[in-house]
Amino acid sequence: MNIIKKDVITSTNDYIKDNYETLENYTVVTANYQTKGKGRISRTWESKPCENIIFSMLINDFKNRTDLNLLSLVASVSVHKLLRKYLKNIFIKWPNDILVDNKKICGILLEGKSNKKSSMIVIGIGINVNQITFSNEIDSLTTSLKKELNLHFDIDNLVLELRNQLINDIEEFLNNNNSFIDYIRDNLFGRNQLISYTKDNKEYEGIILDINNDGKLIIKKEEEILYINSGEIKIKR
Ligand code: BTN
Repeated sequence: MNIIKKDVITSTNDYIKDNYETLENYTVVTANYQTKGKGRISRTWESKPCENIIFSMLINDFKNRTDLNLLSLVASVSVHKLLRKYLKNIFIKWPNDILVDNKKICGILLEGKSNKKSSMIVIGIGINVNQITFSNEIDSLTTSLKKELNLHFDIDNLVLELRNQLINDIEEFLNNNNSFIDYIRDNLFGRNQLISYTKDNKEYEGIILDINNDGKLIIKKEEEILYINSGEIKIKR
């Protein structure tokens, strides 16, 4: 299984989407720097050159096999398993941010593409490793391995660990092993806390109770119980 290392690229997710027909399943593309790094909800992804993990993995031939939302939860479990070797107080903020205490260390963006013959998913992962300062808007909300531990990490080694962990977890998932759901339950950020969330462009408040077996977030809104499938949550302080 290949790892393609790029120096500067627009986005490793875009590279895989543009080239997937010629790439093997589980091919990984990494880059030192992205000029158009993408985040969720049309945001940009900030990452200084050579300091962090910029990683995308191709999952080929995904047609009708399973749900994209569940695969994105599997990816967050893989990243959590990797980072918990080094960090304490690390949580999965549903659906797929990884936080240390309440600061973001990793973001995950899944994208899919299909044509008549085939369909694919790209799992894009950005992990802050050796970067210790971020732009003003996000600096106080963001952390990295080095910011937490004051230690420098070898990015190539972490990339190999991440690739192996992901392949292992995805294979288990495709074999109908749903243990990743319990893993998220055990490491869920914000349980019993008041949060706001957006759905259909409206903002609501509720309390996080759990996730269900379909990976949906269970929220108590006054006397109502809601099951959220996608969206963004914010802790209210
Ligand atoms: C988010 O938290 O909003 C998701 C961020 C995903 C960033 C990664 S970095 C590698 C891959 N390429 C991209 O353009 N985005 C993802």
